[in-house]
Amino acid sequence: MHIDPLEKKWIVVSLGMTGLFIGVILITSFIHGINAPSNVETIDSARLHLNKEFAEDNLGVEQQPDGTITVRMVAARYGFFPRDIKVPADTKIKFRWVSFDVLHGVHIPMTNMSTMILPGFVAQVTTAFPKPGRYPVLCNEYCGRGHDHMWSNITVIAKQHWQKTQQDLAVDKSKGDDGDE
Ligand code: CUA
Repeated sequence: MHIDPLEKKWIVVSLGMTGLFIGVILITSFIHGINAPSNVETIDSARLHLNKEFAEDNLGVEQQPDGTITVRMVAARYGFFPRDIKVPADTKIKFRWVSFDVLHGVHIPMTNMSTMILPGFVAQVTTAFPKPGRYPVLCNEYCGRGHDHMWSNITVIAKQHWQKTQQDLAVDKSKGDDGDE
């Protein structure tokens, strides 16, 4: 088969560019730990209350002993629960979202938080809030007549204050364990 030399040149150039772009995406995603918002983890949305991780008592902010923070929230017509949580600024926070009913979306302005929450799946996004303040949590997928009113708040407090409140909590806990102080 005859291929015109000029055409050959452009085939090589276009393949090279495609390879370059894919390479850049792969390398940056490995370096920055970027992945799709859903880690394709399934969950039974109709039985969230029976699921240990997303049982009502387990929702909200959890700080592990190593300091990493996980937030678990449920999206349901029409709100995100718990309604108002507190997290530290300038800190990586892993959010895990599930839907209780239909497809919702979640968007938090000033952050990279923007994902769909599909019933039956856990949507996981790691984000950080740049500065203290109150951030709205908005639904950005039409989910019914109350969609426009589907939102809640996240209160972001300064990192030092957060550490202080965690230390106070730990002190309270240890006092509680002793029982008599
Ligand atoms: Cu939930 Cu729109």
